[in-house]
Amino acid sequence: MNKLPFVFLFFYNFTFSQVNNSIIPKPTYQKNEKSIFHLSSNTSILYSDELKFESSFLIKTIHQQTGISLKNNLENNNKIILIVDTTSKIEKEAYELKIESNQISIKSSHAHGVFYGIQTLIQMLPLQKSETILLANTTINDKPKFKWRGMHLDVSRHYFTPVEVKKYLDLLAFYKLNTFHWHLTDDQGWRIEIKKYPKLTDIGSKRKGTMVGHYNAQKIDSIAYGSYYSQNDIKEIVEYAKERHITIVPEIEMPGHALAAIAAYPQLSCTGEKLEVGTKWGVFDDVFCPYDSTFTFLENVLDEVISLFPSEYIHIGGDECPKIRWKSSNYCQKLIEKNKLKDEHGLQSYFIQRIEKFVNGKGRKIIGWDEILEGGLAPNAAVMSWQGTSGGIAAAKQKHDVVMSPGSHCYFDHYQGNPEYEPLAIGGHTTYKKVYSFDPIPKELTKDEEKYILGAQGNVWTEYMKTFKHVEYMVLPRIAALSEVVWGTSNPAELKNFESRLLHHFNFYEYYNYNYSKAIFELSTKVSANNTRDGVLFNLQSVEPEIKYTIDGTDPDKNSKVYVSPLNVKNSQTIKAAYFKNGNQKSAILEQKFFVSKSTGKSIQLKNLPHENYATDGPSTLVNGIKGNPEKYGNNWLGFSGKDLEATIDLGKPTDINSVALNFLKSEGSWIYFPTQVEIWDSNDNKNFVDSKNVTRDEVYAYNGVLVINNLNINSRFIKVIAKNNGIIQEGKPGAGSKSWLFVDEIEIH
Ligand code: ACM
Repeated sequence: MNKLPFVFLFFYNFTFSQVNNSIIPKPTYQKNEKSIFHLSSNTSILYSDELKFESSFLIKTIHQQTGISLKNNLENNNKIILIVDTTSKIEKEAYELKIESNQISIKSSHAHGVFYGIQTLIQMLPLQKSETILLANTTINDKPKFKWRGMHLDVSRHYFTPVEVKKYLDLLAFYKLNTFHWHLTDDQGWRIEIKKYPKLTDIGSKRKGTMVGHYNAQKIDSIAYGSYYSQNDIKEIVEYAKERHITIVPEIEMPGHALAAIAAYPQLSCTGEKLEVGTKWGVFDDVFCPYDSTFTFLENVLDEVISLFPSEYIHIGGDECPKIRWKSSNYCQKLIEKNKLKDEHGLQSYFIQRIEKFVNGKGRKIIGWDEILEGGLAPNAAVMSWQGTSGGIAAAKQKHDVVMSPGSHCYFDHYQGNPEYEPLAIGGHTTYKKVYSFDPIPKELTKDEEKYILGAQGNVWTEYMKTFKHVEYMVLPRIAALSEVVWGTSNPAELKNFESRLLHHFNFYEYYNYNYSKAIFELSTKVSANNTRDGVLFNLQSVEPEIKYTIDGTDPDKNSKVYVSPLNVKNSQTIKAAYFKNGNQKSAILEQKFFVSKSTGKSIQLKNLPHENYATDGPSTLVNGIKGNPEKYGNNWLGFSGKDLEATIDLGKPTDINSVALNFLKSEGSWIYFPTQVEIWDSNDNKNFVDSKNVTRDEVYAYNGVLVINNLNINSRFIKVIAKNNGIIQEGKPGAGSKSWLFVDEIEIH
């Protein structure tokens, strides 16, 4: 007789929540117990007055996610208690969460910590309607490592409504981030109402058109674009953030990126010329002129900004300020002389220091992009390091506070997956793995200097993000990786564990209707030489099983072969593969063409190493059976700076050789030039080489870089290929006086 499993005897609907699996950022300490707490409409919630918002937030979220309504402020033997204990030693943003059989308690010395405990509890709850939720008992003691856990949003290039900005803040709260850097002004639009200067929004918030496509295409539409936040909008958003323990740091850009303000008030620039709000992206020459009247204007603007935003820091920009107008301005040159400044960089420093004095006088501090180091740092300024980490390192060594947001790891406007499958972005490649691997504390700092690193921040420049849905896509899931970095619990050795929690978080994104990137499902590939068999080994990886593939050119489907181990590629063929889950294709189809020849997978030695930025997989890149794509020369090419290619391939035994083919790139704008000569040599002992063929520069140009050297009629074991670098770039050519790059790929031998 079939026995009904015990579980079916429950007459109510319940959901068992897997406590351990999903919290991001991962708590600093967690210990699980066997017993269970029953969360249901019998559960009451107790809290003190200062936790009114926090408790209502929890009540609302539990109801939204599970349908359960808690009993409000009623003593009960099944309860959630929220406690602020000002006498406790728990730090302001730290908390203790205890799930016991008859109660859940969240305790901190401040409401901040209690709010983070609530976020943790929310992440433990299932996302389905249920009468009772069974929560395994656990103890969590948690606290953040960094004080500045930030996200930035540029609302100048594209504007997002107050409702959307709040949805952004919800994400920050969910991931326990505490700083929202709001980039409110730039060349393409001034977005904050300033009562004293109405033209800033009447004129400065509007532009006549917007770039379409990539910047390189230089196309602009003629659709009027513009909007701004009223001071009432701002007050409401600041309050919304405050409830969620998020500080908003407003950014008013100066002295550069000021075109929108100059369009409104032309007297702010050195030329006084009437200009229009920017329609192109990029950097503009017209910047604030350091007249006394400009400072008065900026101080009046900052007065209103300071009264709206209670933040300790005011961001004053400071980045990308061309000096050309200051160079040709008599006024600026006299100012430099009068103040004994070194040059225009000294003037930039003078500008920032004068603003700092004003802001400090109001009891606030300034923070600026790392260019504020130019010409000397203002005495109390904090630095936001974006051009790598070197600005941050220099500032910390000068005992200034630093927020790390290097382009390499923290720019969420970069591609996060293979550009072929991603919406248009500015460029770059910053995957969630890269973000996760970031350590805000550079190795160059001493223990004492480390304390100046306040934390890190993800930056979202919106040139290529017209809609908030697109912003969500660029932020998710990289924000999750960043949250763990700044909470201090990321651990690159535990990437798999992070990924499994991240996949669970996708359920939250779907439940709350956030758009997110699924680049995590993309296949990654690696080609390795194969010493025991011919050809190469093609290694495929997905975030979890399983991968299906084909070798006949057809698209893989759920019935295709399952990938179990690296594929031995012995013949020219195209492999197509994708990641499948439960029979459904989850990733885009990866298509890899292989060109197999006598050199494929053979041992290869290089006399000169390629430059580290263009080393791909090292020397074997030239014989891996994959040809570099001339459109994307970061990938699969070897790049030599000023050096020749000198490669020796060992075919293993004397071999009949008729032809050698190889590819070169030319992109003179990027200082990449064809070689001036190509030589083929052969040998049977790897010592005495015979000169088999020389190809001149003209022939290389005639082949347009796709060089095939025929009729060799050699029988040899070792083939040496030399390609002479163009050397120092000739006058009149792009990069004149600098070393040429030589880009090479795939040496095929037939
Ligand atoms: C910046 O990305 N210009 C700070």
